[in-house]
Amino acid sequence: MTTETADRGQWKTRAGFILAAAGSAVGLGNIWKFPYITGENGGGLFVLIYLICIALVGIPIMMGEIMIGRAARKQPVAAFHALAGKKSAWAGVGWLGVLAGFVILSYYIVVAGWAMDFTLKSIANFTEPIHDRAEQVATNYRATASIDDMRTLLVERETERELREPLRQLQAQVRPSDWKGYERYTTALGAAGAPDLYRAEILHETYGEEVSAGMQLVLSDADSQLIATWGLLGVGEDEQAQASQELYESTRSRLLEDAKLRPQIEASEAILAQIEERTREARLAVLAVYPLVEVGAAEREAQEIFIRDKATTLVRRNEIFDSVDSAFTQVATDGWTSVFWAALFMLVTIIIVAAGIGSGIERACRLLMPMLFALILIMVVYGAFTSGFAEAVSFVFKPDPHNLKASGVLEALGHAFFTLSLGMGAMITYGSYQATKERLVSQSVTIAVLDTGIALLACLMIFPITFSYGQEPDAGPGLVFKSMPLAFAEIGKGGMLLAILFFGLVVFAALTSAISLLEVVASYFIDQWNWNRKKAAWLFGGVIFLFGVPSAFSMDPNFAMPGWAPSFGKNFFDTMDYLASNWMLPMGGLLIAIYAGWFMPKKMRAAELADAPSALVMGWLVLIRFIAPVLVIIVLAQKVGILDADELLHGLFG
Ligand code: PHE
Repeated sequence: MTTETADRGQWKTRAGFILAAAGSAVGLGNIWKFPYITGENGGGLFVLIYLICIALVGIPIMMGEIMIGRAARKQPVAAFHALAGKKSAWAGVGWLGVLAGFVILSYYIVVAGWAMDFTLKSIANFTEPIHDRAEQVATNYRATASIDDMRTLLVERETERELREPLRQLQAQVRPSDWKGYERYTTALGAAGAPDLYRAEILHETYGEEVSAGMQLVLSDADSQLIATWGLLGVGEDEQAQASQELYESTRSRLLEDAKLRPQIEASEAILAQIEERTREARLAVLAVYPLVEVGAAEREAQEIFIRDKATTLVRRNEIFDSVDSAFTQVATDGWTSVFWAALFMLVTIIIVAAGIGSGIERACRLLMPMLFALILIMVVYGAFTSGFAEAVSFVFKPDPHNLKASGVLEALGHAFFTLSLGMGAMITYGSYQATKERLVSQSVTIAVLDTGIALLACLMIFPITFSYGQEPDAGPGLVFKSMPLAFAEIGKGGMLLAILFFGLVVFAALTSAISLLEVVASYFIDQWNWNRKKAAWLFGGVIFLFGVPSAFSMDPNFAMPGWAPSFGKNFFDTMDYLASNWMLPMGGLLIAIYAGWFMPKKMRAAELADAPSALVMGWLVLIRFIAPVLVIIVLAQKVGILDADELLHGLFG
């Protein structure tokens, strides 16, 4: 083995591989990403689909990757060279992996940096002043607000909460294409109501695509009217209002005459009417929960106390939420702070990778991973005593077909790759450092079960808090940073210690994943170019960091690339995540599955699986040859628009 340089490492202990591979798998994907995409995709059914993806696609491909790594004992590019021949195009899979590692790490360090920032904030005990101020605001409120105001506040908030699910279900009854048509109709009306092109243009800049589609409807037929409205700038307000009213009416009737649009509008409006009806009913029902009537004095007082207590708690929580929310927003929108932390995190990652596999990583994993697990469990138990727990459990575990969105199915699959560190050769690389060959099947299943368990627990830790604060689960990438401090602030004194531990351990979990990402990139230069480890780690760590700078700035209002979000529909950070998770990893995973299932020499496969019962081997072959590739291909087909899965699913279930 000529390319096996001294800088190739090896795990020190038998458990080394499992620890490191689990360390790679368990990371921000579990604690930061999974909860927030579960929240965005409506919960239960998304989780179920994700679990299916883990079982049918994730585990088989995990086995494939480890197998390739163990058989070749080289990093991905070199591994395909060794197994498939020097000239083979399969090495491209390795290249894709190196690229994916590059892209993922570039924004991964930004999120890990936020976690570092929050660790420091926790050491400075940032939740205590939040806690105290909220108490004060609440006490004030209790003393000054009228009982009617309190009641209104409660009823509004609770109605909103009660309605969340039913409304989503009602909305889901509208066909996606109908809804799109309806949205075009309303945006067209909005645009028509804008009295001049100047305002229409602002609308376009603000809302992008949708409005421009809507504008299109106005522009196509109503050119003359628009030209007339151009002239409006010079005329009096009354005339402007009059003219724009006319334009509005004529656009409306014209759109209603459209044979395709009309049924879409009608279908949507029918549901909207139902929604309105439901809202009225819900408000009445909630009002009854907070009765306030002239009965006996004692009874009336009890009613008032009930309302007062509830409203005060609500106000206190709102106050805590606002402060915590702005704490995250501050970091995320401050590009320089984000860059600073990302740099620091990258530095630590580089130092560890430069020091080599197996030295510190294994030992640290052995200690800190169980700690992370224990801390998450503690927070789940805390959550079990909050008012939002029941709602959280049903949100995470109750599959509701109304919440099924095809884009969610796709995201679930992409995330299965991301969370298991699959599709880019991380497991090939780690597998290649294995000296003794433990049982492949049980290794893979262990890693996947650990990883999935932590992801599910993370949801059970976060959502009770989210719900008991009456918040929506779809807070996006800030979810964990916004929800966990709520609990820590609520807990008061002891909250500080929990906060430090929690964010500290998240940083650690991120670190063990980041190491594997950089390792894939660095090991290419170590294995293929005979570079020394230090040079590879420092050089590529540095380059990846530079590539991550725009991600760190992407939520900063002073971001230097203002055209990015409008032209890509997402900010730079989200674009990188989207590219890597939804394209590169599934693509890489597909190719790895095809290679491991169809092209890898039979003898090698057999050698790796020598200890597995033949039924298991058969099962794996079916999964990796047929099921996994087909599922991934379906996903990619939908991505490129060959298949409109939203419509398809609506047809099947709706
Ligand atoms: N699995 C890691 C996580 O969940 C991320 C990762 C992806 C690491 C791909 C390595 C390779 O955070």
